[in-house]
Amino acid sequence: MADQAFVTLATNDNYAKGAMVLGKSLRNHNTSKKLVALIGPQVSEPCQSVLKSIFDEVRVVDVLDSGDTAHLSMMKRPDLGVTFTKLHCWTLTHYSKCVFMDADTLVLSNIDELFDREELSAAPDPGWPDCFNSGVFVFRPSVETYGKLLQYCTEHGSFDGGDQGVLNGFFGDWATADISKHLPFIYNLSSIAIYTYLPAFKQYGGNAKVVHFLGKTKPWSCTFDAKSKQVVGSVHEATTHPSFLKDWWILYSSTVVPMLQEQYGDKPFHSGVVEHEESSSSHSHAVQSQQFQVSSEERKQKWEQGQADYMGMDSFDNIKRKLDNFLK
Ligand code: UDP
Ligand code: GLC
Ligand code: MN
Repeated sequence: MADQAFVTLATNDNYAKGAMVLGKSLRNHNTSKKLVALIGPQVSEPCQSVLKSIFDEVRVVDVLDSGDTAHLSMMKRPDLGVTFTKLHCWTLTHYSKCVFMDADTLVLSNIDELFDREELSAAPDPGWPDCFNSGVFVFRPSVETYGKLLQYCTEHGSFDGGDQGVLNGFFGDWATADISKHLPFIYNLSSIAIYTYLPAFKQYGGNAKVVHFLGKTKPWSCTFDAKSKQVVGSVHEATTHPSFLKDWWILYSSTVVPMLQEQYGDKPFHSGVVEHEESSSSHSHAVQSQQFQVSSEERKQKWEQGQADYMGMDSFDNIKRKLDNFLK
């Protein structure tokens, strides 16, 4: 349908890479909907060109900022004030219905059925399930709603400093009013759930349709070894199940990087893809030595912030082994 669209947001080149991968993943699963990227003026020319070749519409918007450092620092994410920019999606009134998706999400199968849902449909937030997570939601663009949202921001601010706090305040009856507005968790599976409820992940994770790389470390903060097809950089802080992260990198390195390379031409461009055979083994030494440097208090803190050391101490295999021992 021409008047329905998936919408994402990128205020800088890093998030733009995420948006490119998301757009590609939607196309690969044959969406019949339009694709829209809202971008900040900071996004570079080469990235804008690549976005234009993947998305039907790339719209430059003003970057809004909550400027709410108190709430943002509580969440340890001073960077999320700009997520207020997301509210611009309600101004896309040439569409009757849209699905917003964070630039750090990846689509694993066709999800056009989400358009059968009404505003405001979203999945529970893994940290506080009576709130919805604003990484994936169904909405109806409307100038009136946009105005009311801005007014709500002015009057009430945001309890988390970002858009999710505002949206949960504004659509405050989400938790109780209408169960059809609760999207199944498989439409916004965040990596954190793997650690908080591993047996459920093992039972249902295979049905995931959208994975959300929620948390401070994003796929694009890592490095990918093209030879061994392994994610090798920054893994100490990465927060997601290795195979989803690998899916992201395979799509990025095989389809997005060549497009970016063409746009950048001779100009320097950091793709994050490296080629060195020894990276995996030298990396495992690095992980091992890091393990001894992290105190259990630090480790607990990291865990609670959703920054599990998934390739090291908190690896899927380690957790499984512990769980199996415990169950025995
Ligand atoms: N975002 C952006 N620039 C930023 C931070 C966030 O464009 O500097 C957008 C992007 O679409 C991102 C979304 O806002 O996916 C929400 O931020 P993020 O995904 O980092 O939050 P999280 O899901 O980790 O809480
Ligand atoms: C969240 C959501 C993200 C939102 C941020 C700020 O954790 O995943 O989409 O932008 O909070 O409110
Ligand atoms: Mn996100």
